[in-house]
Amino acid sequence: MPSNDEIIEALRPVEDPELRRSIVDLGMVRTIAVGGDGNVSVQIALTVAGCPLRNEITNRVTGAVTPLAGVTGVTLDFTVMTDQEREDLRLKLHGSPGASAGQGQAHGHAEGRKVPFSEQGSKTRPLLISSGKGGVGKSSVTVNLAVALASQGYSVGVVDADIYGYSIPRMLGADRDPVVIDSMLVPPESYGVRCISIGYFVPEGQAIIWRGPMLHKALEQFLTDVFWDEPDFLLIDMPPGTGDIALSLSQYLPRGEVYVVTTPQPAAQKVAALSAAMAAKVNLPVKGIIENMSWFTGDDGKRYEIFGSGGGQELADDLGIPLLGKLPLVPALREGGDDGRPITAVDPDSEAAQCFQAIARQIAVDLKPRKIFSPSLRIN
Ligand SMILES: Nc1ncnc2c1ncn2[C@@H]1O[C@H](COP(=O)(O)OP(=O)(O)OP(=O)(O)O)[C@@H](O)[C@H]1O
Ligand SMILES: [Mg+2]
Repeated sequence: MPSNDEIIEALRPVEDPELRRSIVDLGMVRTIAVGGDGNVSVQIALTVAGCPLRNEITNRVTGAVTPLAGVTGVTLDFTVMTDQEREDLRLKLHGSPGASAGQGQAHGHAEGRKVPFSEQGSKTRPLLISSGKGGVGKSSVTVNLAVALASQGYSVGVVDADIYGYSIPRMLGADRDPVVIDSMLVPPESYGVRCISIGYFVPEGQAIIWRGPMLHKALEQFLTDVFWDEPDFLLIDMPPGTGDIALSLSQYLPRGEVYVVTTPQPAAQKVAALSAAMAAKVNLPVKGIIENMSWFTGDDGKRYEIFGSGGGQELADDLGIPLLGKLPLVPALREGGDDGRPITAVDPDSEAAQCFQAIARQIAVDLKPRKIFSPSLRIN
């Protein structure tokens, strides 16, 4: 029969599906009992009652303990952490809200917590997906690019900064609500991408009519109260235009990179001007252009340039930055958005998915900010 210690060691690699940390380290494994018949009973403390991932935890624990010599069966029962235990857990994972209090730009005003992505040492690259005008495919690009980056092995989060016109949960198929552990929000995940959106906090179909300060507060909470756990990329689905939200984000994300989505109409002077104005207003660099709806391939196999051609390249040349890709107009891309099944995840061999993968590689590799300072190099 395995000893309790051996069982603990077997359980150590088992991660909580939401927090992605060892269930042993999180203090979720409560009691272990090995019966004479080889049946192992494990009690697990869930972070919150009614945890939707209880079955997944059961499978993982059973899978880890069953192979041990002498084990004939595994029985789980569940309890729930107390408020105190949840507070301790939140402190351990997310720190104390007051701990990083300060007056700088990137500090949230209510709790005094610093936005983690603003710090010099942060490994997270915030990618702001924006456009000069609405309806060009920002949200579709955000979701598919996020899925592509995740499939390439990066950890990825998405902030739906389009407070009035939120769309990310539906497009990503992330329909589970965030889990609240003490004051920490654990974002739902879909296709390996975690996301947060105002959509989780307002009744379906209700219009949001907040003014600047409320928008600012919501964004701040998305950045500070959510357990992002230092992702490689944090994609921000921007609202159309250059309003309050863009300004707030630039304060919170001084290391942000702007990517502009545009359609292929040539001489889109207005779009170029707006994009440049936005970047100037928020004082963040525009790093690349993504052209969307570039052509439609008919049943005859011919490419039809419904919205003209050359606009993306022209804008890229105007701004002196690369055109990262041209995305075809494909019904499956829209359907995937409507059904929460992003084309990049469900049809990875399609032309559109391949294009998103190529754009993701360029952003991850070619446009990776060069290190200009290394703390380990010193002149004595
Ligand atoms: N390449 C494409 N092929 C087919 N449909 C597309 C494509 N890109 C976007 N769409 C569809 O066009 C519509 C608008 O796209 P999306 O919502 O991504 O744009 P947006 O720029 O985020 O809009 P908004 O400014 O309203 O936030 C959606 O229905 C989407 O599914
Ligand atoms: Mg949108």
